[in-house]
Parts: sequence; structure tokens; C-alpha cells
Amino acid sequence: MRTTEVSEGIFRLSANVKDILFEGIWPIPNGVAMNSYVVKGKKCAIIDGVCDWDGVPETLFAQLDEMNVKLTDIDYVIVNHMEPDHSGWLRAFKEIRGTFTIYCSEKAKPLLEAFYGIHDDVHVVKSGDTLDLGAGRVLVFQDIPNVHWPETMATYDTLSKTLFPCDAFGSFGSVSDDAPYDDTLTEEQIQFFEREMERYYANIVAAFSHPTKQAIAKLGGIEIKTIAPGHGIVWRKDPGRVIRDYVRLAEYGNGPAKPEVAVIWASMYGMTELGIAPVVEAIEAEGVPTHVYRVPETEMSFVLDAVWKCSGVVLAMPTYEYKIFPPMFAVIDEMFKKRIVRRKAFRFGSYGWSGGAQKELDETMARLRGKWDFIEPVEFKGRPTDADLDLIRERGRELAREVKRWCLAEGGAGSAAE
Ligand SMILES: Cc1cc2nc3c(=O)[nH]c(=O)nc-3n(C[C@H](O)[C@H](O)[C@H](O)COP(=O)(O)O)c2cc1C
Ligand SMILES: [Fe+2]
Ligand SMILES: [Fe+2]
Repeated sequence: MRTTEVSEGIFRLSANVKDILFEGIWPIPNGVAMNSYVVKGKKCAIIDGVCDWDGVPETLFAQLDEMNVKLTDIDYVIVNHMEPDHSGWLRAFKEIRGTFTIYCSEKAKPLLEAFYGIHDDVHVVKSGDTLDLGAGRVLVFQDIPNVHWPETMATYDTLSKTLFPCDAFGSFGSVSDDAPYDDTLTEEQIQFFEREMERYYANIVAAFSHPTKQAIAKLGGIEIKTIAPGHGIVWRKDPGRVIRDYVRLAEYGNGPAKPEVAVIWASMYGMTELGIAPVVEAIEAEGVPTHVYRVPETEMSFVLDAVWKCSGVVLAMPTYEYKIFPPMFAVIDEMFKKRIVRRKAFRFGSYGWSGGAQKELDETMARLRGKWDFIEPVEFKGRPTDADLDLIRERGRELAREVKRWCLAEGGAGSAAE
């Protein structure tokens, strides 16, 4: 990787990571960029670190070398966020650098001790505190708790009006050396990162949508010329674009999201599956696009992404040992952990003798207090009859019409932006 200059005196260091499950759970077929920023006044600070996965700290050190920054030149390490994808390199850095001062939030301090045994030279800051690097460069800190951990803060450079928000405004997707900026990317490439951002959001940020909205409101009064996140590309041509993207994504949990339908289905012997093509056809006949994923074949990450951005959901699964087919239950449970609070929904599925999936679904929805508005389900014994399939088609059309109505009536964040 090559170091690039974000603006005068600010440099982006980065390593793309591939072939891992991010957070040990989310696949990243297109990789993810881990970004750090060196900010120079008379003194030098490094904002956000990287993970300690194979070769990554070394990549960072090589990039410092390349820009003629000696590790001993770094006076301050700003730890916006303690998750090890950004702090993991601290141990390796400390071994080489020896003494330096860490700036972090109050809640990060005990985490520095717990994760890395670091307790000396830790300077705790709160919202509004500053660090003067000299040469007119003053950094200001702002707590943005729970975006993504409780200790998270953002750093703002008053000279260049650059915001360093760490996980916020980030995305999946490896970033090419040549084009890490929105002004060096084509519109098509920016849209690639926006798609990667949606899944990143659904997997990593979704559960923290409320704190994310609060953070965006807090930062609203600041003039921002550049957004330099811990993952993904840097936004300096149009930082408003990524802010609008995040505002839109943060609203999706409460719905309506996009006027589209996620069809999430599972089937052991193909009985429930017989209803999938008819329901998809019926929904699309109403002009509503669908995203169809089979469970457990599809990893949770992609299912959550689809359900996060669709206003309508079809859950199609059979009964298994008197309950919901287990991998489908796991997906439903995770949807609620991600706070997918409101949706228009339809469930159908097969059973053998007395069923049970529908009962468990009703109980689960009541327990999780989801405001999912279900149209009447269709359940059938064994193979669906032609009449069952007709009913599934009819309900599919009904769901699609409900989704369209909802998006039209309330579709501010969801449909208007599309
Ligand atoms: C392991 C297993 C457990 C099942 N448990 C139940 C059950 O508790 N109640 C019931 O009515 N049917 C039960 N069934 C029957 C299925 O729900 C039925 O075969 C249904 O048609 C499966 O639909 P599918 O082919 O879409 O998976 C079970 C089937 C299997 C294989
Ligand atoms: Fe994080
Ligand atoms: Fe992160």
C-alpha cells in the first residue's frame, strides 16, 4: 500500500484485509480497508490505528518509513475507538516506539489497560477538549458513545476541517492505492462503496442506529470539508453524500426502508420451496423488486443486509420439531438484535402433522415486541396444492401493495433517496 495525502499535513495510511471473517462473523468477499491518519503540525499525531492481523502493523510502519516519518517523530496516538481492529497494533507500536502519549476518552482508559496493559501516559479527554499540534493545527475531540463501542469518540482537525469518525461513515470493500478518495473515483466506483457500506451498516452499525443518529446530530454544527473514516474511502469532494447515506441507513430499522421485498426462505424437502417462485413472481408483478436468499445456505451477513434495506419481508419456512426451522429462527432473532423494528411481512410454510412454526413465530414477535405488520399467513400440509399456491400469490401481491403504500405514505428516508 502507498501513503497518500488527504490534504496538506494529513496523510492516509491503509492496509486492505481479505480472507477473514470480520468480527469473526461477517464475510468480506471484497475485503475491507483499515485506515490510519498521520496529522502533522509542529508535533505529529497518528489518529486511529489498525489491527494486529498478519503483516498489518508492518504495512503501517513501512508506510511511515516511506513518508519519512520515524516512529520517534510520533508524539501522540489518538485512540478514537478501542475495538482491536483499530487498536490491535498498539502493542507492536509500543514495543518499537517506547514512550508516547495516548489521547482517548474516559471510557477507553480501562480498556487500554484490559486489552494491552497500557496505563502510563494516557491523557483522557472529553467533548470539546483540544490538542494543539502547533503550526495552527488544533484537534478537537467529541464523544460519540456507542458508535460503535461505549468509549468511541471522533477527532476533528480545525485547520483542514477534517473529521476522523473511525467506524462511523465507514464501509467494507478494499480500497485501491490509486483512488482512496471520492474525487479520484468514478461514480460507479463510489456506488460500489455505497453498496459495501449498506452491508457494513447492517452488520456492524445497525444495532447502534440511535447513537449514530445522535452522533450525526452532534456533529451537525461543525463545518466538515473532509470525512476520513477508519474503513473505506475518504470523502472530500462531497462529504455530505456519506452523511446523507448514513442518515438514510440509520432510519431503515424503523422503516420504511426501500420499496423492495426480501424473501428469506428455508426448506428441507422442497415443499415450502414450491411457494418461492410464485411469491416472487407475484411481488414483482406489482413492480416491487425482490432479493431472495435461502437459509442456512446464505450467510447471515447478506440476509441482514437485505432485510435492513427492504421495507417488506417474506419469511418462508417449515415446522421443525414443533418449532420454526432452526436456522431461520436464528436469522429472525438476529434481525431483532439488529433492531429491525418495523416491517411489512408475510409468512408461509409447510408442516407434516400439527405444525408449530407459526405459533413460535407469533410468540417470538410478541416477545421481541417487533412492530412487524404481518398479513395473514399461509400454512399447508406437505406439498402445497394449486389453491395454496394461488393463495401465496395473492398474499404476495397484497404484501407488495402494502409496501408500496407504506413507502409512499412515510417513505422519507427510504424511497425518496433512491
Ligand atoms: C426433522 C423434522 C422435524 C419435523 N418436525 C415437525 C413437527 O414438529 N411438526 C410438524 O407438523 N411437522 C414436522 N416435520 C414435517 C415437516 O414440517 C414437513 O415435512 C414439511 O413438508 C417440510 O417442508 P419443507 O420440505 O419445505 O422443509 C418435521 C420434519 C422433519 C424432517
Ligand atoms: Fe468498531
Ligand atoms: Fe472498525
